Amino acid sequence: MHKPVLLKEALDFLNVRDGIYVDCTVGTGGHSIEILKALNGKGMLIGLDRDESALEIARERLKEYKNCYLFHSNYLDLKTILKKQNINSITGGVLMDLGSSSLHFDDLSRGFSFKNNAPLDMRMDRSQTLTAFEVINKYKESTLADIIYNYGEERHSRKIARLIVEKRAKNGPIKTTNELSDIIIKCYPKGIRFKIHPATRTFQAIRIEVNKELENINEFMCFIPELLSTGSRLTVISFHSLEDRIIKNCFKNASTLKVLTKKPVTPSEEEILYNPRARSAKLRATERI
Ligand SMILES: C[S@@+](CC[C@H](N)C(=O)[O-])C[C@H]1O[C@@H](n2cnc3c(N)ncnc32)[C@H](O)[C@@H]1O
Repeated sequence: MHKPVLLKEALDFLNVRDGIYVDCTVGTGGHSIEILKALNGKGMLIGLDRDESALEIARERLKEYKNCYLFHSNYLDLKTILKKQNINSITGGVLMDLGSSSLHFDDLSRGFSFKNNAPLDMRMDRSQTLTAFEVINKYKESTLADIIYNYGEERHSRKIARLIVEKRAKNGPIKTTNELSDIIIKCYPKGIRFKIHPATRTFQAIRIEVNKELENINEFMCFIPELLSTGSRLTVISFHSLEDRIIKNCFKNASTLKVLTKKPVTPSEEEILYNPRARSAKLRATERI
């Protein structure tokens, strides 16, 4: 089961009281359940997730809360969802807990991890058409290299993209995580021990591209301030520097938001020990003025 990250800190910043709250990334409901407990039957929680399997678990877990409404949706569709619920403005607060859920990596068939052999997929929303297979086999070399460099911060990006394109031209489509991982390993110097597996950065980059993770955050940050009531809070947990940079800049540049976290809040050593996935988490919070 996915362990929620920075749970107490997120709840403290959201400052839950009566009102309308939105969890944009419900996942399996770890943060949502605590928001609902704090609401204590008052107000309402709207929860969204683009991953139907995660949402199914959340539905079961949160079924006793009658003030909880869950939707299989991209958070970019929040405006439409609120409109359908006749909600003009978010009076409580919004939570985003970005990145992937442990569920994505635990389900070996979904192709998120280079540690297991699976078809190249990596879709958070399995109803979307773009998969990792398309990216690896259809994108041209320069686009692949840019993605691997920009989203993975991988210094061997050009070499990796070149070998991917050579292999697919020679042997046909690259179909599995193992095939991709083997290609990446060949682009690294031999006989050196690496701190992280050589495929880590490229897999991150392909996942970000398949799920349009950075574009989504950018677009969301453009419209969310206008949906918040005065005093309502937006709390975001991110997991890598590319996400954090976008959030930091959007918060700083939004004239209607007051930044509550001068520096990002990070997990305690105790939390990291109990949940190593938390080690790269950063929380930033703002309030609508
Ligand atoms: C880190 S998990 C959230 C975990 C959750 N807070 C919990 O405690 O169980 C991130 C979730 O965000 C979802 N997600 C990512 N991008 C999304 C988007 N654009 N719209 C909706 N959900 C998204 C993923 O499917 C994933 O379930």
